[in-house]
Amino acid sequence: MKRLEQVGLEHVRAVYAGPECDLWELIMGSQIHVGGLESSRDLANRAGIQPGSRGVDLCCCKGTGMLFLCRFCDVASMTGVDATEKMVEEGRARVQRQGFADRIQFVHAEATRTGLPAGEFDFVWGEDAWCYVDDKAALIAEAVRLVRPGGTIAFTDWVEGGSPLSDDEARRFMTFMKFPSFATVNDYARLLEQNGCRVDCGVDTGRFTACVNLYISMLERQLTYDALAILGFDQAMMEAVLGEMTFARDLAHEGKLAQARFVAVKR
Ligand SMILES: C[S@@+](CC[C@H](N)C(=O)[O-])C[C@H]1O[C@@H](n2cnc3c(N)ncnc32)[C@H](O)[C@@H]1O
Repeated sequence: MKRLEQVGLEHVRAVYAGPECDLWELIMGSQIHVGGLESSRDLANRAGIQPGSRGVDLCCCKGTGMLFLCRFCDVASMTGVDATEKMVEEGRARVQRQGFADRIQFVHAEATRTGLPAGEFDFVWGEDAWCYVDDKAALIAEAVRLVRPGGTIAFTDWVEGGSPLSDDEARRFMTFMKFPSFATVNDYARLLEQNGCRVDCGVDTGRFTACVNLYISMLERQLTYDALAILGFDQAMMEAVLGEMTFARDLAHEGKLAQARFVAVKR
């Protein structure tokens, strides 16, 4: 697992409380993860999310993953955990506006220490967010603690691909993304197994390169003004962002970055 000492939760919170979050939302939509609805549907189908079940979304952002699960999978209730206060506040307002406040609640906490009761949930959910959590071992232990025996841990995440990143590549990419640590598929599979899970799926979704190409195209061809407005019309900053996205796209093309999907069951 790659680590970057200079980046911590305060940097991640600054991203999600500031303009970078707006930029991600501009290019990705309200589902801030690679592949949008298609990715969520794939994850829910592979995980066998059941109507009437109860789940926790770790690093839930503004709650769109939980709204998806209520609308499309008819889950009974969701609890979202996020460490950025602004996300929790905006999430509560969004869920209220969309009429789901009776089924979705938010907790402002770190994903590694949620304070939620053990063994009371049918599944734990996460979409492209656990890459921001430094202590992946504590994160997986907490996810497994939350579900009942037979419960499911289902998540997608950005991971190091089958070809390893060099130290320089990892430092540059993780600094841009504000990832304090960066796991491989095998790192996550090992942690899930060490915490008593059977890993049913840990695979590259194959979406990363095409989606990042799409984001770059939108920034260059359609959303340039809106992106510049978010960045205070700082053209140098815009060029820098595009340069780092192109760098990430090229790493993915070389098999060094990917979005992966995981489904594991607590024994
Ligand atoms: C990419 S967004 C999640 C996107 C969301 N899953 C979706 O699909 O729309 C990442 C979220 O993780 C949260 N986060 C990062 N580190 C965290 C931590 N250690 N504990 C809890 N939340 C964290 C951030 O505040 C942010 O809201």
